[in-house]
This record gives sequence, structure tokens and C-alpha cells, in this order.
Amino acid sequence: MRNAKWKAASRAAIALTGAGALAAGMALVLTAPAAAGTTLGASAAEKGRYFGTAVAAGRLNDGAYTTILNREFNMVTPENEMKIDATEPQQGQFSYGAAEQIVNHARSRGMNVRGHTLAWHSQQPGWMQNMSGSALRQAMLNHVTQVATHFRGQVVAWDVVNEAFADGSSGARRDSNLQRTGNDWIEAAFRAARAADPGAKLCYNDYNTDDWTHAKTQAVYSMVRDFKQRGVPIDCVGLQSHFNNNSPYPGNYRTTLSSFAALGVDVQITELDIEGASATWYRGVVEDCLAVARCNGITVWGIRDSDSWRASQTPLLFTSSGAKKPAYDAVLTALNNGTTPPTTTPPTTTPPPTTPPPTTPPANGGCTATVTVNQWTGGFVANVRVTAGSSALNSWTVTIALPSGATVTNAWSADRSGNTGTTNWTNVAYNGQVGAGQSTEFGFQANGTAGSLSPTCAAR
Ligand code: XIL
Repeated sequence: MRNAKWKAASRAAIALTGAGALAAGMALVLTAPAAAGTTLGASAAEKGRYFGTAVAAGRLNDGAYTTILNREFNMVTPENEMKIDATEPQQGQFSYGAAEQIVNHARSRGMNVRGHTLAWHSQQPGWMQNMSGSALRQAMLNHVTQVATHFRGQVVAWDVVNEAFADGSSGARRDSNLQRTGNDWIEAAFRAARAADPGAKLCYNDYNTDDWTHAKTQAVYSMVRDFKQRGVPIDCVGLQSHFNNNSPYPGNYRTTLSSFAALGVDVQITELDIEGASATWYRGVVEDCLAVARCNGITVWGIRDSDSWRASQTPLLFTSSGAKKPAYDAVLTALNNGTTPPTTTPPTTTPPPTTPPPTTPPANGGCTATVTVNQWTGGFVANVRVTAGSSALNSWTVTIALPSGATVTNAWSADRSGNTGTTNWTNVAYNGQVGAGQSTEFGFQANGTAGSLSPTCAAR
């Protein structure tokens, strides 16, 4: 259920690139294995993934650039155009032109868009740099709400918060004006993003979070685990993966990907570039992603070396004149050699050593469920809070009768049966166990009108 959107994107890409082949050789398609893809996007789509790139609006009138973009990629991240300084240059005055250029270019050609980024300590406009305290918190939340609302339905995933943890061994949050508004600024941003664009995946994105043993990786992992346990709406973790000699591609990268995935989030590689474009490292990154069912896409941070923010490192898949580099061939081959992902996406590793196995509490004592609804014309989001009674829960089921005309379109943090009428919602792996008197949350989006919902809860 949580992967439906990514899968839809992949199917669209297959349909676009494979229509001719299908028409030409129906019998062949039925009897022979599917031909290996010949572009990054098509090959990734065959594996249920996307392959994306950062795009700069200023390059969209460069024909050599758009030729490669349109041919190879099925996901696009605006490189700078959705950042805070670009979208709200003066407080309360929003400017979406450059971002819309990219969004329109992508979506009119069947590519999807990752929104980058709603809240960040960097690339803040001057007015925001000078703010602090509750005024800044309010301004940040307003920014998240405005931008996510403006692009509602056009962006498959948002980097809601970018780079909020410190480098080095502290495992602490990065000091910033946003952090000084209170430690809960990140979850506040995620809740605002969910309310504004309930159909989009919400991601936390960072760099130097690739090596599983690093304090920064562990700190982000702990935050995501905590968010999942408390029902803070987070769906994905982005690893930027800017690799070079000081920040090498780590041997335990696959462990990092699978460990995050085991928390019940999707994992994406969001800004990949590799100094010198080692074909071996690029191949390793792709193989690691394909080995983890919930690693559902890779984005490189630019197309040609000359497009890179680190052009002198020649870190990308195409030369400055647009030729495919050895790293390109390595990536394409790795994508084509990868196995097709399973249709379900179970966590792929046992929990990492920092997660002690929870003790099994007895299942009795019952539970209650309450719901809060955010209704707009034609649709709503319901957030449901499950609270254990006097005993801890092992697992739970919530039943919600939807009024006629209401149809669930999207849900998070619970499995459901039915999307109209009487719907049943059961815990997923990470939120079944709820301590006595404690709570967890799940939610869903629906078409129609919620009216007054009266959820009931049963311990299982
Ligand atoms: C970079 C852009 O590529 C540059 O054009 C800009 O000058 C600075 O930002 N982490 C991120 C990206 O999340 O937004 C950054 O992009 C690279 C590091």
C-alpha cells in the first residue's frame, strides 16, 4: 500500500518507453524475458524503482541537456528552485516560477518530482536568517504549509527537513536558528507538511548518514524510530550520498539502507555523486539499493559533469559534452542485472544491534481510538490515535464506518481492509506494541466527506 505511488511512477515509465516494443512483438513479450532496458529510467522502472536527477531551471533551454534529461530519467528534483530563499524571498511573498518550470517540464513528460526542501538551516532568505524563537517557528510552519499546499498533488515526495544533524561524533542536532526554536521543530514541520499535502511521501534527508557506524547515521536512525513509534508522519529517509575520498562509499551502505527500511520507511538515494565517478562505487550503490526492497529510487545530483555543483570533481554519469561515462554503463548494467523486487515490501534485515528486541507484553485490557479530521472540499485526512488501556497491547484493530461517498485513497502506519463503508485497520510491524496507557497513531486520506467518525478499537 505504501509503495503504490512509486510503483505507479514506474509503470508509467515502462508504458512510455515500452509501448513501441509491445506493439512490435506481442508474442515475443509473452514468451521471452523482458528485454533489458536501455535507459536509466526504463531499467530502474523494470525493477520497480525510479532513476532521477537534479535539474536546474536555467538549463532547460539547453537542448543537449534536455535531450539527456528526457531520455534517461523518470524523476526530477529541482536543484535550488524549491528552497526557501527561492520560494519565499520576502516574508509572505511567494515565488514559484522557476520551480513550476521544472515541475511542468517533468510532469508533462511523465516524470515525477521530488520536492526539495521545505525546512533547512541553509539557503534561507535574509529575512528568515534574522528571525528566532516563536516568530521563526511560525514563519517556518507557514512556509511549509504554503509551499506544500501550492504543489499539492504534483510532488510525489518532499524532503520536509534537510540536514538537521551535526557532523562528527556527537550524534547531536545541528545548531541552527530552527533548532533553537525547540527540539520538536522537525516533527512540527512533518505534521504541517502532512496536513498540507497528504498524498505525498514525507522524507527526512541528510548527508554523511551512509556509514552505519557513524554517530550521525545512528542519531538520524533513532529519530526516525522515535517518529514511527509516536506516529509522527514520516514515510521515507533520503541519503544524499555525496561520495569522495573524505566521505567514501562505505562497505556497510547496504546495512544502512536495510536498517532504515526495517523501521517501516522507504529509503531513497537522493543526491548521488562520486568524485572521479568510480564505476565500481556507482555499481555498488545501485546493487545495494536493488538489494533492499524499500530502496525505491536513486537520484544523481546533476546530469553532465559541467552541471555538477562540484564540477571539478567530475562526479556524474555524463561528460561535459554529454557522452556516457564508464560509470553510466556500470549503473545501467547493475540495474538490468538486478532482481525484480517482491510485490510486498517486508523489512529486509533483522533490526540492527542498537534496537533491543522488545519484551512481549500480555494482550488484554483493551484499547480506545480517537480521530481528528482535516476536511477540505471533496476530501479529508483522518489521524487516528490508538491508546492502550490498563495493559500493554501486542497488536490492535480499529474499525471505522465511513459515510457513503467516502473512499480511502492513501494510508500510513496501518494495514487496512476495505476502503469504503466499514473499514478495518490493523497495526503494522513497528506500532503493534503499545505500552499500558500509551498511544500510537495512524492515518489515511479519503475522497468525500468524513462527517463524524466513531472509531472503535480492539486488542488482538
Ligand atoms: C546545492 C546545489 O547543487 C548548488 O547549486 C547550490 O549552490 C548549493 O546547494 N545538499 C543538498 C543540496 O541538500 O540542496 C545541495 O545543493 C547540495 C548538498
